[in-house]
Amino acid sequence: MAKEYRFYCAGEWRSSDQPLEVINPYNGEVVGTTSFATDQDLEDAITAAERAFEETRRLQSYERAAILERLADGLEARQEEFARLLAQEAGKPIRDARTEVARGVFTLRTAVEEAKRIGGELIPLDWMASSQGRFGVTRRFPIGPIAGISPFNFPLNLALHKVAPAIASGNTIVLKPPTHDPLTMLTFAELIDEAGLPKGAVSIMPMDRTVGDRLVTDPRFKMLSFTGSPAVGWDMKSRAGKKKVVLELGGNAGVVVDKDANLPLAISRVRVGAFAYAGQVCIAVQRVYIHRSRYDEFVEKFVAAVKEIKIGDPLDEATELGPMIDEKAAARTEDWVNTAVSEGARVLIGGKAEGRFFQPTVLVDVPPTSFVCSREAFAPLVNLFPFDDFEEALAAVNDSEYGLQAGVFTNRLEHALRAWEVLEVGGVVINDIPTYRIDHMPYGGVKDSGLSREGLRYAIEDMTEPRLMVINRVPDE
Ligand code: SIN
Repeated sequence: MAKEYRFYCAGEWRSSDQPLEVINPYNGEVVGTTSFATDQDLEDAITAAERAFEETRRLQSYERAAILERLADGLEARQEEFARLLAQEAGKPIRDARTEVARGVFTLRTAVEEAKRIGGELIPLDWMASSQGRFGVTRRFPIGPIAGISPFNFPLNLALHKVAPAIASGNTIVLKPPTHDPLTMLTFAELIDEAGLPKGAVSIMPMDRTVGDRLVTDPRFKMLSFTGSPAVGWDMKSRAGKKKVVLELGGNAGVVVDKDANLPLAISRVRVGAFAYAGQVCIAVQRVYIHRSRYDEFVEKFVAAVKEIKIGDPLDEATELGPMIDEKAAARTEDWVNTAVSEGARVLIGGKAEGRFFQPTVLVDVPPTSFVCSREAFAPLVNLFPFDDFEEALAAVNDSEYGLQAGVFTNRLEHALRAWEVLEVGGVVINDIPTYRIDHMPYGGVKDSGLSREGLRYAIEDMTEPRLMVINRVPDE
């Protein structure tokens, strides 16, 4: 019998008569069962979040920090349990699942620090004689209930990037975890329940599309933080009313391998960036532009390295590449590859779906307009292109609707600085892949890749409003 998980609503454990079976993408077995929150559950969660906000907004820094510390300690104490559950419900190789849990602990510990650092500014106002004796002080105040929608690819850490800053900043949050793999966050709710938060400060509930849509439209939420696909995210923004909207969307990240680059480093890192978690990462490497003088060597050694990727059961310690989240995703990827081939592309390795698995795939001669290149593939595939001129490579990276992160392997300072200046992305990573992320750095995109930044401190800025106090120093009479 698969374990039944209740959802966490308004400080209570609940279930509904709308069941949700969570399937292991590797073997099709049921990992656990839960249920979708009803409209009434969401109503209760919102009312409780508003009520709890009257308490959370008054919590002192040390109190918010202590709650987050308990969450970090609780997650750390149960890391292996979380990693195995995550591997099973997301199909993520266990070594990557362990990394995600460790990152989750780091995200929470960073939030502990940031909870104590929400400062303000002192602004001299005496710039004119009429403002003599006046100065201003700003302080950031929490804005109120936050709605969070987190994606399937990092079911723990990307959810914590919404929950942790909400707690750190004295806000409350209703979180919709992903329908494919909600059990990790429903288990995390056990830690929330014991962390000492006011009842209803955090609700974590799977929702179907209709119920979940109220996270977008209900004006009692003061901010929507969404991580997911660009099409869904931008549509949500257009319907979100007056609330703030933070969008962490996808991309088709590009890498430039310059003439003087460290080739072994570039090859081994691109292999990670293109194929980690079957490419189902918003900053997965999808396009690589290699200086023509190094192109043949890169292609030969890279394909040889890709051949060595160990495909298999996510719970096997040796597995590097597991299944995609569902069969539809694998079939859609094969479709795109076939279309690219009909448009002139060549498959150097891979290219085929086998059930939920998609072979690690390397493509060349791909027309830039082909979907495998121009759209977000979110799959274990990568396109390789030669270039002659560095500026041409930068322009090719920019030739995209997206702009999340980019990588540049170069040993020329001038090229690194030029890339930083020119690339239209949220982050340029020198001598590493765009897939690099540590959780306290500002993370987010431009163009279709999103709006605003996450990374604790930056999320806290969005979740708070600066309020100015003007002081008029009146001399003693
Ligand atoms: C993402 O897929 O947007 C997040 C990647 C990461 O946190 O490493």
